[in-house]
Amino acid sequence: MANARTFADVRNVILSAHKNTGAQDKVGFYDKWAENYEQDVALLDYRAPLLAAECVNSFCRGDREKITVLDVACGTGLVSSHLKKMGFHHFVGVDGSLGMLELAKKTGLYQQLTHCLLGQDPIPAEAATYDIVIIVGALSVGQVPLTIIRELWEAAKPGGYVCMTTRGNADNQDYKAELEQINRSLEEEKKWSCVTVVEVEEWEKAVSQEDDGYIPGAIYLYQKSIP
Ligand SMILES: C[S@@+](CC[C@H](N)C(=O)[O-])C[C@H]1O[C@@H](n2cnc3c(N)ncnc32)[C@H](O)[C@@H]1O
Repeated sequence: MANARTFADVRNVILSAHKNTGAQDKVGFYDKWAENYEQDVALLDYRAPLLAAECVNSFCRGDREKITVLDVACGTGLVSSHLKKMGFHHFVGVDGSLGMLELAKKTGLYQQLTHCLLGQDPIPAEAATYDIVIIVGALSVGQVPLTIIRELWEAAKPGGYVCMTTRGNADNQDYKAELEQINRSLEEEKKWSCVTVVEVEEWEKAVSQEDDGYIPGAIYLYQKSIP
């Protein structure tokens, strides 16, 4: 079998990412990981793309043929590929890694794919354009900064949905708390309302010694207010 990967390979790759400090460094890491990414996250039992897609699918109303999805930090396209199986059709992707974008392009799922260093460059999307804005696996410490949340809100249509995920393990606790604080602030400003928050015990297999078995994660689904 060509290039059969083991869980130990995946652990080494992910632990090596902890050395990456800046955004450019982090996307450089994904450029190198791109080729093995899908194989490796399958070994990790990384369930976030499916769980987030199921969450959107269960709450989102409307004709799936017409709904437009902005897949932020789309990677190789796992989230849109699950949404496609659920009947969604129109996908636009954004990511900071050219290696990941190259693989996303090969899926043929996306009408448009744009390179963007999130947190540094504004999301390349017109305001109030998308029915669904989704970001999976990229909101965590050392990855995409939380300033992006207002940009996600901005890109959604009034009445549209913003779906976000984050990890719940020890090293991401402060980031998760801050993310939840920003979500609440936007709700207090009446910019959106919370549809659901799903805490998931078995998000993906743990790779670091501080964590055991599976690490937890969470899905947040918000609906943008109609002025
Ligand atoms: C764990 S992958 C998730 C990909 C996909 N959403 C999924 O769930 O399979 C994280 C993605 O975020 C992207 N990313 C991380 N930091 C970024 C940044 N600052 N700007 C743009 N993309 C970034 C990486 O290139 C990578 O494709």
